[in-house]
Amino acid sequence: MAKKILLSGIQPSGKPHIGNYFGMMKQMVDFQDDYDVYAFIVDYHALKSVQDAKSMKGNIIAVLLDFLAIGLDPKKALLYKQSDISEHTELAWIFDTITTMPYLMRAHAFKDAEAKNKEIDVGSFNYPMLMAADILLYDPDIIPVGADQKQHIEIARDTAEKFNRIYGDTFKLPEAMIMKEVAVVPGTDGRKMSKSYNNTIPLFAEYEEIKKCVMSIVTDSGEGIPKNVYAIHNLLRPASELLPLYESKIGKYKELKELLIEDLEKFIAPLRERRKEFEKDIPKALTILKAGGEKAKKIASAKMEEVRGKIGVNVY
Ligand code: AMP
Ligand code: TRP
Repeated sequence: MAKKILLSGIQPSGKPHIGNYFGMMKQMVDFQDDYDVYAFIVDYHALKSVQDAKSMKGNIIAVLLDFLAIGLDPKKALLYKQSDISEHTELAWIFDTITTMPYLMRAHAFKDAEAKNKEIDVGSFNYPMLMAADILLYDPDIIPVGADQKQHIEIARDTAEKFNRIYGDTFKLPEAMIMKEVAVVPGTDGRKMSKSYNNTIPLFAEYEEIKKCVMSIVTDSGEGIPKNVYAIHNLLRPASELLPLYESKIGKYKELKELLIEDLEKFIAPLRERRKEFEKDIPKALTILKAGGEKAKKIASAKMEEVRGKIGVNVY
């Protein structure tokens, strides 16, 4: 029996943090034996924030190395980048023609920009349509993402349903896979860990950087358990181990932070080392990305042929 398909993408727009890892990247590795995993770099999405060729190139290579370093195995998983498969942008246009402005105006990202009185660019407004195309081209079953992407997956489902209603059954409706415990990984200030809040712990941080991040964790708990320290620590150790430890060290925040630094170092050091290994042979990593793109292109172009047939433009 064919395996189910698990698919997700990440923007090449900066260093990943442990929130990205626990929220979605880890799932891609954990499931690569049981699912056909499609992991891709959404470089065209990132164009809205990365508008310099040198940074774009560097960022693409960085995400590629990140994926390899966390253990994504190119023999099991398909690794590619969005811009290698023009079908993504082609399908996004077709979706544009069946989607209304008021519908996209309900998207959180748009509403946030509006609330801040920001002038939103058309690409950002349209972002969910390109994301729907990224997903629906491959008929995946599940999409691992953090909670902040839930609405985008719902938009992809709605879009699939709408297309199917108009043109006949074409797209499979995917499910979001949002792991409850890591749906929103907290940052060093207790808010969601996010590049834009400056509260992250980078996934490949050096020891000194880990130390600095942990020491900056805000500890304002009244009852003795520093909840921001605990929440991050809980990503690495189960509550059954952690609670007794924290209860035996009430008030000793510095000691608890030191323990967290050691645990983070134990978890991050092997990833960091693997990444350095892959970094030594970037041409080889790029060969993997290119080959992945060629395979993904075949799947996507077969699906587009079906779509062109459904909408009636295939007159030859
Ligand atoms: P971003 O860093 O916002 O581009 O997100 C990349 C992926 O990581 C998306 O699937 C997000 O949902 C996920 N993600 C980002 N931040 C977190 C977080 N703090 N907790 C859980 N998942 C996250
Ligand atoms: N919107 C996602 C993010 O910002 C990235 C993304 C683009 C994506 N296309 C996707 C994720 C398709 C899953 C599936 O993190």
